[in-house]
Amino acid sequence: MAVEDKEKWNKKYENTPELLSNRAQSNKLSNVIKHAKGIEALDVACGSGRNSIYLANNDFKVTSIDISEVALDTLNKKNNPNINTKLVDLDTYSFDENRYDLIIMVNFLDREVIPKLTNSLKKDGILFIETYMFHDENEKSPSNPDFLLKEGELKTLFNEKEVEILEYDEFFNESYELYKMRKQSIAIRKK
Ligand SMILES: C[S@@+](CC[C@H](N)C(=O)[O-])C[C@H]1O[C@@H](n2cnc3c(N)ncnc32)[C@H](O)[C@@H]1O
Repeated sequence: MAVEDKEKWNKKYENTPELLSNRAQSNKLSNVIKHAKGIEALDVACGSGRNSIYLANNDFKVTSIDISEVALDTLNKKNNPNINTKLVDLDTYSFDENRYDLIIMVNFLDREVIPKLTNSLKKDGILFIETYMFHDENEKSPSNPDFLLKEGELKTLFNEKEVEILEYDEFFNESYELYKMRKQSIAIRKK
């Protein structure tokens, strides 16, 4: 499965270089980072790192993980001293426990990895997830419908005894994205 992901994503980045170009970060991040109490951040499925760069420019020490060497090579070429990249397969990666003040996962969905991300937060750490959802006006269907969230789904994936929901939204993606798509985002704080 993950070998296929690696080949699929390396090919996608090689065939669509716009995906590697300097794109703006998620619009939501500027608000999300205000909730974080420390500087240790993890960018999960970071791609070429538009969000990692934003976090690094805002004084976070970022670990940026992805399965695609093509994407990570592009990020490594920026030589940002606050970004440390790691080539990992999320299907098998062991996340450190109680390590991060802020974890983000943007434009990627793996429901099984979400509890591991919560576990990898310090107490009071912030997890931000933003990705695509089902919607009639979506201009593109995913290769696998499991990659799309159902209405309200992100709110159901957390145990309210363990986390506090700080922000939740459903909205259309930024205009620079290749296709118009509905998205969903959540920011939670670990209790
Ligand atoms: C749509 S891109 C999102 C990039 C970035 N988060 C952003 O918002 O620009 C999805 C990323 O997930 C990565 N990915 C897919 N499967 C993966 C896996 N099993 N382990 C780690 N990364 C994976 C791909 O290589 C790709 O860079």
